[in-house]
Amino acid sequence: MPLVTLKKLISNAESNKTAVGAFSVGNMEMILGAVKAAEKTDTPIIIQIAEVRLPTSPLEIIGPMMVAAAQNSSTDICVHLDHGLNYETVEKALDIGFSSVMLDGSLLSFEDNIKLTRKVVEKAKEYGASVEAELGVVGGNEGNGKAHKVQCTDPQSAKEFCEKTGIDALAVAIGNAHGHYKAQPELRLDILKQIDAVCDTPLVLHGGTGIAPETFRDCITNGVRKINVATASFDAVTNASKSATALEGANYFKLSAAMAEAVCENVEKHIKIFNMKN
Ligand code: 13P
Repeated sequence: MPLVTLKKLISNAESNKTAVGAFSVGNMEMILGAVKAAEKTDTPIIIQIAEVRLPTSPLEIIGPMMVAAAQNSSTDICVHLDHGLNYETVEKALDIGFSSVMLDGSLLSFEDNIKLTRKVVEKAKEYGASVEAELGVVGGNEGNGKAHKVQCTDPQSAKEFCEKTGIDALAVAIGNAHGHYKAQPELRLDILKQIDAVCDTPLVLHGGTGIAPETFRDCITNGVRKINVATASFDAVTNASKSATALEGANYFKLSAAMAEAVCENVEKHIKIFNMKN
């Protein structure tokens, strides 16, 4: 039953000096495509869904599908709630069987973020699940959510935050943003290095779409052990759907296969970059 925790995958990544890819899913084809890429490359991955996606992909429907896909996979898969917005959603995800959760308190005050995150850590312990939290503000927006301005993570606060909360992974803000970058982002590797130097907790890079392979490698060298990719997979599905429906003899079954294949290709491409040694 290879449904595993974030903690386990991140600790393997730490030993190998690689990062685990965390791929957003929104329907069955995206789940199947991502898991197929993990099996094809024999590389564990995380499949995740953010709370802002739940209006179109209800948690009580897509959640059990994600868990079942992990349980039936021949490769270790972690099922993670990305950017939870409400404590109740975290509880629901844990009840469904998610092996990892994130409650995004990055817009709260430092103290309130600590308080809420500790509550999540306590709850997740009851289920043997892992916890990710965010400090600083990642830019852009998830789905149709409100766009946020980047606020880089302060290294000393990151150290204090991790010590006081006991989280398994910390999402940092170093100039990264969700969605499409207007130009190749200049990530603040200097800040990442400072965080990595003082913080024992593995780090997470959000906003993976559009980041250059060499920048991913620099981030991995400096403590990033989980990298989130969403927009690139949603784009792949959308483009594959357009092409598949434009074909002579198009039908639902060919469309479904094309969507899964497009996600598989995108996930496989990222897995190879994240596994690469310098
Ligand atoms: P992108 O949509 O930019 O790939 O970001 C994904 C992400 O960070 C999900 O939390």
